[in-house]
Amino acid sequence: FNVLVLHGPNLNLLGQREPGIYGMVTLDEINRLLVAEGVKLQAKVHHIQSNHEGALVDAVQEAGKEYQGILINPGAYTHTSIALRDAIAGVKIPTVEVHLSNIYQREAFRHHSYIAPVAIGQISGFGAESYRLGLEALIYHLKNQTK
Ligand code: DQA
Repeated sequence: FNVLVLHGPNLNLLGQREPGIYGMVTLDEINRLLVAEGVKLQAKVHHIQSNHEGALVDAVQEAGKEYQGILINPGAYTHTSIALRDAIAGVKIPTVEVHLSNIYQREAFRHHSYIAPVAIGQISGFGAESYRLGLEALIYHLKNQTK
């Protein structure tokens, strides 16, 4: 399988951004972990980070040509972006939503996800491990899907 990992806004700052919430791990380390995990699971992992909503929408739309699954941490767009949700719903590529922090433990405005209803599932609260678990869940889904 070819899997696209999408990182939303501010995730390029991981390692220096609110380490009490997001930990010390950098985006590079997460990407390397996912590529290595992909090798184990027989998946080729490609990753993109953008701070721009439209760029993420474009990436989702274009993913249909090359990728069988999407792993996404939409960052703050989780809580605001109907456009990103519609893109995911529109391309029908199985998508897993992940968050480093447990969004339900935090401010009320983070409790709602526009993405969750169009995702296969969501993993939230395990730091970098959320991504690894999300990749595993996505590949599990792709191997088992009948349609
Ligand atoms: C986040 C949670 C979001 O609420 C926040 O805006 C982020 C990161 C997470 O991974 O925990 O940027 O998606």
